[in-house]
Amino acid sequence: MTRTPEQLPPDLVERPRRLRRSAAMRQLVAETSVRAEHLIAPFFVVPGASETQPIGALPGVSRYSVDTLLPQLERSLELGIRAAVLFGVVPAEAKTPMGDAASDRHGPVAVALRAARDAFGEDLVLITDVCLCGYTDHGHCGVLRPGRGAAAKVDNDASLVRLAEMSLAHAEAGADMVSPSDMMDGRVAALRGALDGNGFEDVGILSYAVKYASAFYGPFREAAGSAPASGASASAGGAHRDLTPPKDRATYQMDHRNVREGLREAALDEREGADMLMVKPALPYLDVIAKVRARTTLPLVAYNVSGEYAMLKAAVAAGALDEPSAVRETLHAIRRAGADLIFTYHALEALEEGWLA
Ligand code: PBG
Repeated sequence: MTRTPEQLPPDLVERPRRLRRSAAMRQLVAETSVRAEHLIAPFFVVPGASETQPIGALPGVSRYSVDTLLPQLERSLELGIRAAVLFGVVPAEAKTPMGDAASDRHGPVAVALRAARDAFGEDLVLITDVCLCGYTDHGHCGVLRPGRGAAAKVDNDASLVRLAEMSLAHAEAGADMVSPSDMMDGRVAALRGALDGNGFEDVGILSYAVKYASAFYGPFREAAGSAPASGASASAGGAHRDLTPPKDRATYQMDHRNVREGLREAALDEREGADMLMVKPALPYLDVIAKVRARTTLPLVAYNVSGEYAMLKAAVAAGALDEPSAVRETLHAIRRAGADLIFTYHALEALEEGWLA
């Protein structure tokens, strides 16, 4: 039975549902994709051998020693992942006020870089986190200038020297890119200068340009043992006698209320020679990703951080969310906002389980 034209709803000429009628049709008109090559897998590397240390706050994520890391990198490559980012984790007794172990040529990151280069040649892009927080005994991302109360500061320019030394150690060990996450002013220029001055003009800089002082890094700090110490615990040792370090990272990481400031940070890092820019965290900052995307032609990375991952895993464990669809939607949202690449702890599992297909 056909209806007469009089019976048709008069205004309903446009029917967007036509393009959603089948899975094939939806696939045809999908505006965004997430594939293996968009994902960068983070790995925590510890000294020693035969270590696989599950991280309580990050279910499904472990710290590896170099020998157990290599199979994970191989697994990543087999899944089509093109890049890994390495975070070094050292024991408390290796930590010092200046974070000396950060530039140790025999530290876990340097050893892992050499081993990964030997094993995989140029097939895997090797990125390293450059920051002092995992190596300083006070847990700050830079070095401290002594003082009491508000006079104790994270010393910007003294920190640049240490960060440059750290990136040189990584470049010497074979890093393709160094990735400063400290948020000191001028660090991209400092790293670029140090790298170029030592023959590493081909080593790139992926700058955590727009990194917020965020509550969502909590699980990472457990994973890396890198929480900033409170005044009381950090002032116990001799070197720290007159030091009351800030208890959080608010004097260097960005305030979550600001977006114009983020555009300024992105522009500065681009001018200083960054090869890629990052916005971090991702989910609470999709607007920032979109705005930085509109202003830069550089590849843009978003960090789907530990707290975002842990929240999702906790909701799944509580039976509140369906994991495959929640992970798929999360990663597509970050790409839709404008990120080219995503650092995410979901990478291997999502690809292996086919959640993104
Ligand atoms: C180091 C660093 C942090 C993260 C990446 N690099 C922690 C911090 O700034 O406190 C967080 C990553 C995550 O939460 O997954 N500065």
